[in-house]
Amino acid sequence: MAQKITIAIDGWSSCGKSTLAKDLAKALNYIYVDSGAMYRGVTLFAMRSGWINNDEIDELQLKTALDQIKIAFTLNQSGNPELLLNDENVEDEIRSLEVSQQVSKVAAIKEVRNFLVDQQRRMGQSGGVVMDGRDIGSVVFPNAELKLFVTAEPEVRAKRRYHELKEKGQRVAEQDVIDNINERDHLDANRSESPLIQTEDAVVVDNTNLDREEQLEKAKALANKYISE
Ligand code: CDP
Repeated sequence: MAQKITIAIDGWSSCGKSTLAKDLAKALNYIYVDSGAMYRGVTLFAMRSGWINNDEIDELQLKTALDQIKIAFTLNQSGNPELLLNDENVEDEIRSLEVSQQVSKVAAIKEVRNFLVDQQRRMGQSGGVVMDGRDIGSVVFPNAELKLFVTAEPEVRAKRRYHELKEKGQRVAEQDVIDNINERDHLDANRSESPLIQTEDAVVVDNTNLDREEQLEKAKALANKYISE
């Protein structure tokens, strides 16, 4: 039987990591874990609790309440994971620009990261997993057999995310989407806890000029090198 490996996919905001990770997991019959969705879920919990006001987070309240937050995934009819926050499906809500505007601050809190990294490691402990995020190859699975670092030009990333939100019926200004991507990139790369880095052993996939199929083919070819029969 083919050996099941661990595949870590990291990269900048809205660079197509999740699409690639999802497609790759389907192609290999692996589990896909969207770690960003988990940070978004914790952020939504804090927003609903009234602990984020004027961009300030009541960190103490949030840290103390982490044991009340249950994060899980359910599969929809197309086989794609959707996030459950304390058993409620919040998949649409966590993708809103409002959540995107707070998530990187929540993700910078050490206790939040420890809380989610523990769960992410458990989800991937048997291998056969594709996980995407910012610290998967550096912190969550430093021994992953394959690490991809996905990039695309900033304008391309902003356009993709803007169209994605519009397709979902969200009313957003393109400039707000651009500002949010820039802000998150800055916060994610400069925080002290598990900043976004490209590890030395990661393979860079620049998908500025690649379509969905092409990026999948590239990743599949790389993965197949490590999957021994
Ligand atoms: O899909 P997109 O690139 O917009 O972001 P995401 O993967 O949903 O992640 C949302 C935010 O969560 C990121 O901007 C990071 O601040 C944080 N995150 C993180 O810190 N570590 C991860 N492993 C995944 C996400």
